Amino acid sequence: MQKPLLFSPLKLRGVTAPNRCVVSPMVQFRATDGLVNDFHLVHLGKFALGKFGIVFTENCAVEPRGRVTQGDLGLWDDNQIASHKRLTAFIKGEGALAATQITHSGRKGSTPRTFDKPGELGPPGAGWKKWEVVGPTDLPAADGWLKPRALSAAEIEELVAKFAAAAKRADAAGYDVLEIHGAHGYLLAQFLSSISNTRNDKYGGDRAGRMRFPLDVVRAVRQVWPENKPLFVRVSAVDGGGGWDVDDTVAFAQELKALGVDVVDCSSGGIAGAATAAGVKRGLGFQVPFASAVKKQAGISTMAVGLILDGPQAEAILQEGDADLIAIGRQALYEPFWALHAAQALGCDPDFDMWTPEYGWWLEKREHTLGRK
Ligand SMILES: Cc1cc2nc3c(=O)[nH]c(=O)nc-3n(C[C@H](O)[C@H](O)[C@H](O)COP(=O)(O)O)c2cc1C
Repeated sequence: MQKPLLFSPLKLRGVTAPNRCVVSPMVQFRATDGLVNDFHLVHLGKFALGKFGIVFTENCAVEPRGRVTQGDLGLWDDNQIASHKRLTAFIKGEGALAATQITHSGRKGSTPRTFDKPGELGPPGAGWKKWEVVGPTDLPAADGWLKPRALSAAEIEELVAKFAAAAKRADAAGYDVLEIHGAHGYLLAQFLSSISNTRNDKYGGDRAGRMRFPLDVVRAVRQVWPENKPLFVRVSAVDGGGGWDVDDTVAFAQELKALGVDVVDCSSGGIAGAATAAGVKRGLGFQVPFASAVKKQAGISTMAVGLILDGPQAEAILQEGDADLIAIGRQALYEPFWALHAAQALGCDPDFDMWTPEYGWWLEKREHTLGRK
């Protein structure tokens, strides 16, 4: 039997993902001072045991102000590197590539956790406090969101340097793959979209002006991120409000490719708070057409994400040539061993060889006991 594409290795510069199953970045609000702790080790470690080929941490802020919540991970300080090292060592020890995502929340920072009730800010007693948020302009994301302070040109240049410094720390921490978060209405997406970026200096105006800061970030990061390690950029292929569309994303992806980006991770929405979620109709694989358009029109590898639930669905996306990698978010929370289950469903691991032997040996024997073999 021919091996499914989902379980074929993918070489990305000097590293090889053992398969195409990727854990999508998912923020957990469990950090203090941006440090990786036991929660992150167990939460992400189980995906490595579950044999995802690439395990992404949640978004890591490039400065404290760039967190979404006070509980987000960070890569803004050298003293955070050691905590990340423990995590990357475990993930890599189980055979996966360790990946992280660097971000700045911009005007969507300093928020409660998604599940906090009205009036709550973080875990009870944890003493979370709000902070000043920044953005391309002083326009808030939506009613009820903090009013940001518009960044000066000098501050924008400082932020470019902060992204690069965070990338260097990600390398020192042992990550194999780095992703820049340019989606979901966070700072870089706020500069891209004409809804949130109404600046009239060189960082605003036409599409080239609006792309300037994100591209400066990518250029600076690519310069310090090792040549032999792949760089991904996550985009909202459409911002959900009509200020950034698929054509814009294709043009942006062409620039990213020229700057040495290896994979465009195609998400969508988020520019104006919850209101824009409705701008993108959701259903199984609803963002796959974005990954396909970028791959075909910009000639760059893509990662598909969004309501991909099982192995056969993932395999069909790869077989169609719509994407090169499959990112799994919520289904990985539901099913941390998703990749191993996908291999079973695709019939390519009948003897449980992909499993860690401490589990696989027993599961294979159990098949005989149950009379299935
Ligand atoms: C709990 C949770 C946290 C998330 N945090 C991030 C994040 O840190 N960075 C990011 O780019 N996307 C984040 N996302 C979006 C996911 O990476 C993914 O794109 C989205 O959930 C759609 O994929 P799914 O349908 O497989 O869940 C988060 C999603 C969830 C459910």
